[in-house]
Parts: sequence; structure tokens; C-alpha cells
Amino acid sequence: MHRFNQMLILLSGLLIVTSCSVDELPAPDVAIQYMLGGETTIYSSGPDAFTFPLPNLDEAGLAEHFLSDAAFEQQFVSAPAEQFGGLGPVYNHTSCNGCHVRNGRSSIPQFAGDPMSGLLLRLSVPGFDEHGGPLGAPGFGGQLQNKSIYGVQAEGTIAVSEEQKIMTYADGSSVILTHPTYSIADAYMALPENLMISPRNAPPVFGLGLLEAITEADILSHADPADQNGDGVSGQPNTVYDPYTHLMQLGRFGWKAESPSAKHQSEAAAHNDMGLTTPAFPIEHCDGQSNCTEGLQDVVDVDDATIELFAHYFQTLAVPAQRNYNDPQVKKGAALFEEIGCGACHISTYTTGVHPIASLSYQTIHPYTDLLLHDMGDDLADHRPAYAAGGTEWRTAPLWGIGLTQVVNTRATFLHDGRAKTIEEAILWHGGESLASRNAFMQLSAEDRKALLAFLNSL
Ligand code: HEC
Ligand code: HEC
Repeated sequence: MHRFNQMLILLSGLLIVTSCSVDELPAPDVAIQYMLGGETTIYSSGPDAFTFPLPNLDEAGLAEHFLSDAAFEQQFVSAPAEQFGGLGPVYNHTSCNGCHVRNGRSSIPQFAGDPMSGLLLRLSVPGFDEHGGPLGAPGFGGQLQNKSIYGVQAEGTIAVSEEQKIMTYADGSSVILTHPTYSIADAYMALPENLMISPRNAPPVFGLGLLEAITEADILSHADPADQNGDGVSGQPNTVYDPYTHLMQLGRFGWKAESPSAKHQSEAAAHNDMGLTTPAFPIEHCDGQSNCTEGLQDVVDVDDATIELFAHYFQTLAVPAQRNYNDPQVKKGAALFEEIGCGACHISTYTTGVHPIASLSYQTIHPYTDLLLHDMGDDLADHRPAYAAGGTEWRTAPLWGIGLTQVVNTRATFLHDGRAKTIEEAILWHGGESLASRNAFMQLSAEDRKALLAFLNSL
């Protein structure tokens, strides 16, 4: 986004805050709860709701944010180029925001090879890499790169087949769900026989600095791997290799919590999604393509400072406030959410610890996630393990901002592979540890289901 536009939007955002505080003072009991990001909350519910910087940044922090915004939106081109070269040789997209549309989700492919989609396929074969992570597929590595620069073959295209199933509520009404199965078409070489494929849609990227600022002790305090409290819910942390510390660390980011930090997530994205070489990942993705490494430079395509900028951008993106928090239907939905057990995994409240970005420290926030892995049943399984995450396990998705998903990107959908067209469908796909809670949802009256959905849409 252009800097001046953003400034204007920021200013109008501030004006809205001022006018809100006159007419719509929240009742004391919800005064804090509705500020989903604590003091970093912004007041916007339009298509740009995920694009605002933390309102409590100081002048220098704000300047840094706008600089990092440019990096996140930068389209990279193939080498040789004076600036922003190094794209590919194989890649998935030319910029970060090409997939994270307005900092929200990407859309899933509407047809084989849909260039608008940011969905990607993670790949592996049975076994482990040297750090206990997934073992890349011979000839393809850990991800299908479905685009390539001139003169190089892309690894293949993403194909999909669909099956439908009907879910019927206790009151007799029903919903048709569509289950996509992703595969690879036009592979540039024979696919390994035992290939495992995990489809991943690009998630939203706001509020992630706050999630990074939740203390490890706080996250681990919710883990219950052996389900000792007997509630059927047994969250466990992912533990992943950190290339900076060379240690195994708590995973926080990605649909299976495979990334330990904002910096790692950025550097891995630059390398895997855009084909940029970086200080931690200096080797091009040339898994077997002929003429792949021709003409590539010896120096890395992006330096550490650029990686830090990518990270700084989403670390300093604000969380939009809850809307309609005083609406009786929304309040009823919030109560039902806890009553039927959604809150066992989608944990509402934390106080962040200390973060190097001071604006993120000591904030009381409401992300509705435990950042832990849960068995979500066979229907959602990708059968592709990643560190501690088994083939049926996923990280509890944060629910803040979820009601604005399709305001920000009308083509956006829900769940790790984007199979759910609505929030209601996303709930109906819940299985495994969340089966009891899903079944309780299906027992609710139409009016109560509506209240629960009104609550989720207010987030
Ligand atoms: C090809 C599309 C694509 C591009 C390009 C892309 N991403 Fe992503 N991004 C994804 C997908 C898919 C995931 C989920 C990955 C997973 O589950 O492992 C993701 C995850 C993330 C996350 C974690 C979100 C969360 O809730 O845990 C962050 C942060 C992120 N990307 C930042 C970036 C940055 C920074 C760039 C540019 C350097 C970038 N992405 C480029 C598709 C993309
Ligand atoms: C056992 C833990 C658990 C329980 C209980 C649970 N969820 Fe989830 N929820 C998850 C996980 C894990 C995901 C991500 C699944 C995926 O993407 O495949 C998720 C995803 C979602 C999503 C989609 C989020 C997105 O970003 O696309 C919604 C909406 C949701 N849950 C709402 C609910 C509601 C409402 C309930 C109660 C009826 C509930 N959940 C109960 C763990 C849980």
C-alpha cells in the first residue's frame, strides 16, 4: 500500500476511535474483552482491517513499519536485476502479499494452475531430515514450487478432486460439505511412490507479534498430552528446529506450528515460497531440474536486514476490535462457545510477556487459540507428520478477526486447506479431540447456532 494512503487510513482509523469513545462506551464487563489486541487494538471493520500498524508504536516504530510494509509488498523478479532480483528459479509467488491478500488469506485454486491462488502443497516422504523434521521428496524438496523463471521447468501444477458429504443437525436441517483432495499434475519428473502431500492455504498475518509475545510457560501450561484432566482434549506443543539457535524450540507459526519465530517464518517463506536465497537458506531449490542453477549469483538474494523487515511488518500489524460485543445474541453466542467446549482449545485470554518490540509487551489479548496441536480426526488429516505434529494434528487456529475474513478477501475460505466456505462449515469439519464439541454444536437449536455464529462473526 502506498505510504500516504496508509497514513490517511490510519488517521481516519484514529478518528473512528475518538467518535466511538463518545457514543459507544462499552459496558464495564466487556470493556477489556472486546479489545482483542489489548492496547494494540484498532477500530476498523472494512477491507483494510488487517493492514493497520500497532497504534501504540512510537514514531520510529511507525516509520520502521511503513518501511517493512514496502518489503512485504515488493514483487521480486528473476536475476539479473539491479534491485529485488533472485526470484526462483522455482517458486510459488512473487511477493508476500501475493498470497496473504491484504494481510488476510489467499483463495484456493478455482481450476488447475489458478495463478490467483496462494495455496501450496507441502511434500515429504517417510523418514526424517537431520533435525527430525519432514524428509523432503527426492526431486521436489519440502514443497511443490508450481512456478518457475524463464527457461526452467516448474515442478508441477496443483490439481484437485472433490467429494461431498451431508451433515444433518439434530433439528433436521442440513449442510453440504465439500472435501478437496489435492494432487500434483504435470510433474516435471516421476513423483516418488510414497509421497505425502499437505495442502496449506495462506493464513492471515496480523496480530502475530502478540502471539510471539505469549510466554512459552503460558503456552505449555495449557498442554495436556496425556489428557490427565479427562476432558478429551489433549493439546501438545510442537517442537521444531531453529536454524538460528541450532536448538529445538517451541513451534508457534503455520497450520502445524512448524515455525518457532517470526524471523524464521519470514526467512523460510522468502526461500521456499519465493525462491530467494537467504543467509540461513543459501542454496537454491534445484532438486533435479536441468539448467536450474545457470546464471545464479554467488551472493544471497536477500540479506538479514530484509528478512527482519518482512518479520517486522507482520509483527507490528494490529488486531481489529470485536464488533457488536453488546448485542445480546453475540453475548449468548460467547457463553455457548465456552459451554460446548470450543474454549478448551480456542483459549480466549493471555497477558503477553516481554517482547523486543515494546508495544507488544504486557498486553492482555484475546486470540482464541492455545497454539497447541490437536488430533482433529481423519477428515481433516493430511497424514503428513511434521516434527511432533502427527498426520491428524493441527495447531488451534486463532479466531480473532475471523468475522472479517471475507470482508478482507471475498474469495477467502476457512481451515488449513481452505475447504470450508463458511465458518459454520469449518465447525462441522471438527473431529478427533473436538468431536464432542462439534456434536454439541449439532445438537443446538437453530437459534443457538445462529447466536454462536454471530459471536464468531463479531470477532
Ligand atoms: C505461495 C504463497 C505464499 C507466499 C508467497 C508467502 N506465504 Fe506466508 N504463508 C503461506 C502459507 C500456505 C502459510 C501456512 C504455512 C504452513 O502451514 O506451514 C503461510 C504462513 C505464514 C505465516 C504464519 C501465519 C500463522 O498464523 O502462523 C507468516 C507470518 C507468513 N506466512 C509470512 C510471510 C512472509 C513474510 C512472506 C514473504 C517473505 C510470505 N509469508 C510469503 C503462503 C505464502
Ligand atoms: C480440540 C481442539 C478444538 C476444539 C474443541 C475446537 N476447535 Fe476449532 N479448531 C481447532 C483446530 C486445530 C483448528 C484448525 C483445523 C484445520 O485447519 O484443519 C480449528 C479451526 C477452527 C475454525 C476455522 C479457523 C480458520 O482460521 O479457518 C473455526 C471457525 C473454529 N475452529 C471454531 C470452533 C468452534 C466454534 C468450536 C466449538 C464448537 C471449536 N472450534 C472447537 C481446534 C479446536
